[in-house]
Amino acid sequence: MSQNQIIEPAGCVRGEMSVPGDKSISHRSIMLGALAEGRTRVTGFLHGEDNHATLNAFRAMGVPITEQEGGVLDIDGVGLDGLREPADVLDCGNSGTTMRLMTGLLSGQSFFSVLTGDQYLRRRPMRRVTVPLRAMGARIDGREGGEKAPLAISGGPLRAFTWNSPVASAQVKSALLLAGLYADGPVEVTEPHLSRDHSERMLNHFGARIERFTGGVRIEPRPRLAGGEIDVPGDISSAAFFLVAALVVPGSELLIRNVGVNPTRSGIIDILRAMGGRIDLLDTREQSGEPVADLLVRHSDLKGIDIGGELIPRAIDEMPVVSVAAAFAEGTTRITEARELRVKETDRIAAMVSELGKLGARVEAFEDGMVIEGGEALSGGQVESWGDHRIAMSMAVAALRASGPVTIRDTGCTATSFPNFWPLLHSVVQ
Ligand code: S3P
Repeated sequence: MSQNQIIEPAGCVRGEMSVPGDKSISHRSIMLGALAEGRTRVTGFLHGEDNHATLNAFRAMGVPITEQEGGVLDIDGVGLDGLREPADVLDCGNSGTTMRLMTGLLSGQSFFSVLTGDQYLRRRPMRRVTVPLRAMGARIDGREGGEKAPLAISGGPLRAFTWNSPVASAQVKSALLLAGLYADGPVEVTEPHLSRDHSERMLNHFGARIERFTGGVRIEPRPRLAGGEIDVPGDISSAAFFLVAALVVPGSELLIRNVGVNPTRSGIIDILRAMGGRIDLLDTREQSGEPVADLLVRHSDLKGIDIGGELIPRAIDEMPVVSVAAAFAEGTTRITEARELRVKETDRIAAMVSELGKLGARVEAFEDGMVIEGGEALSGGQVESWGDHRIAMSMAVAALRASGPVTIRDTGCTATSFPNFWPLLHSVVQ
């Protein structure tokens, strides 16, 4: 749905709030709940478009999933061999996680399936999963030799396999781990930096035989997965917009409750603290195998820093809003080794350079990152979302500290990960 939002400069950002459930964990709760034996009850599930794509795909494969009061989901697991051939193409919408993880999972089934997605997803690279899956014995066809969706998968037997992934990608790693459930021996995946480990944690939680070693992870095939309770924490990637909003708008103080702070996801906290941001983690606890905390954030004078290396995969989805924080910081911020940003929902380097530039920020693109000269006052104006939820929300944060109203065009995309973003933003902005 294409719509526009007009954001006025904020007086301050204040109050207490919570953000919706973690998108990555919500996807995995459906997938593993479906493959488990017995019932899995998911509380805190993110009812966004991306996760509904996963939910609909599993319903289409015969998995009973019912919604209870408060958005709680009951999944009646069908076991590793209980999925049925879907009668139609499975539509992953905008969701790269749905498409890449399902490609792995479907490779090991005894049926045929086809995955497609929206105009953005059909442009994204898929060879990163189809190449290693084919090496395991998977039969996958797709446009451009398996690089682009739609992907047609003729499921069948898979072999034990080791893959040294050239990219730190949780989607690649998870696709191979899910395929590994069906292989004839162990599957190992190594990666250059540790990407988010929600699959490993949840597989372990469900009773899979999965083990980490330095630089990688190994899974043994054909475990008995046992259904259970999953309580999904708030999504740190959604909290990130509010963290930056409170840091950059003078007079702000915000408490964000129940946020997942898994170390493979909390790079945004490390980055913002290194920039001088005052963020406290309160009452850190564990929930369904994931660390969770309340985050207290107060307006701070930020300074520019260099960001690269292992911080990039730990904050990959937060880089657009980091570039907003950098525009309001004193001095230069350099983001390097972040080439992956070019193949997200859109090219997020090009998008942020273009849209922040329209408000007067000094931002320059490089092949694998960007340089932001902070401290320039931003003006009001009109910007585009590029059909990308995180670009739209990042520009909303920038608008809070602009000198006049900012119109953000085509903001319906925020429903993919954060359906109540706009009302929640208005509830804490004064
Ligand atoms: C995700 C992994 C990341 C991330 C995406 C969600 C996941 O993608 O950007 O939003 O749930 O596994 P990559 O694996 O491409 O880095």
